[in-house]
Amino acid sequence: MKNDHSEINYQAHWDAAYTRTPNEKLGWYEEDLSPTFQLLDKCHALPQSKMLIAGAGSTTLVDELLNKGFSNLIATDISQVSLTYLIDRVGSNKIETIVDDLSQPEKLTEIESVDIWIDRAVLHFLMDKNDQDIYFELLKSKLKSGGFALFAEFTAGGATKCCGLPIQQYENHQFSEKLGNDFQMVDTFEHTYYNPNGDPRKYIYSLFKRS
Ligand SMILES: C[S@@+](CC[C@H](N)C(=O)[O-])C[C@H]1O[C@@H](n2cnc3c(N)ncnc32)[C@H](O)[C@@H]1O
Repeated sequence: MKNDHSEINYQAHWDAAYTRTPNEKLGWYEEDLSPTFQLLDKCHALPQSKMLIAGAGSTTLVDELLNKGFSNLIATDISQVSLTYLIDRVGSNKIETIVDDLSQPEKLTEIESVDIWIDRAVLHFLMDKNDQDIYFELLKSKLKSGGFALFAEFTAGGATKCCGLPIQQYENHQFSEKLGNDFQMVDTFEHTYYNPNGDPRKYIYSLFKRS
């Protein structure tokens, strides 16, 4: 998967990141998933609610969702390596995985609609406006009416790079502009995440509901 707007092979970039670094040492590894659950709790999800974890990598959010009884999960990522680690950990029969590029989706266009779309630290890597538009078109084409979109992205005053790549900082008006009028904000807060090196990273967490 090669992004047309860049010479970088993003799949190889992310596969290399996951290959050279153990999960708990990754610059985005989080032990404390409570900010995400603070928002997920507001979705009143049922055990069978379908959740798409965009750019899941090898996140332990999947383990935690499975522990809580959610069984209808799709983890998607550009990195095959990360999803292989995830499957090795949780079991291939526990979760559906899809290797795809959110800015050039192929397989993701084929999935059934989902109740909840979760993105932590993925959208902010899409620097190109066209890539962002494709991402949001996919989200809107796959999120059910009454469904929820949960974002956790770097925000103003925080880091400008991650994993050697530039990132776009987000504020709520940017989510709202991209989502359009049939999405209403349910909750939002800022959260400072400390990465495994102890460095602070300022995030914005926001939950939107589709009418
Ligand atoms: C900073 S990590 C966050 C991983 C996970 N969401 C978490 O919170 O632990 C960013 C993830 O986005 C994935 N990613 C980056 N660009 C992507 C793209 N265009 N399409 C799909 N996944 C992408 C990377 O492979 C990586 O797993």
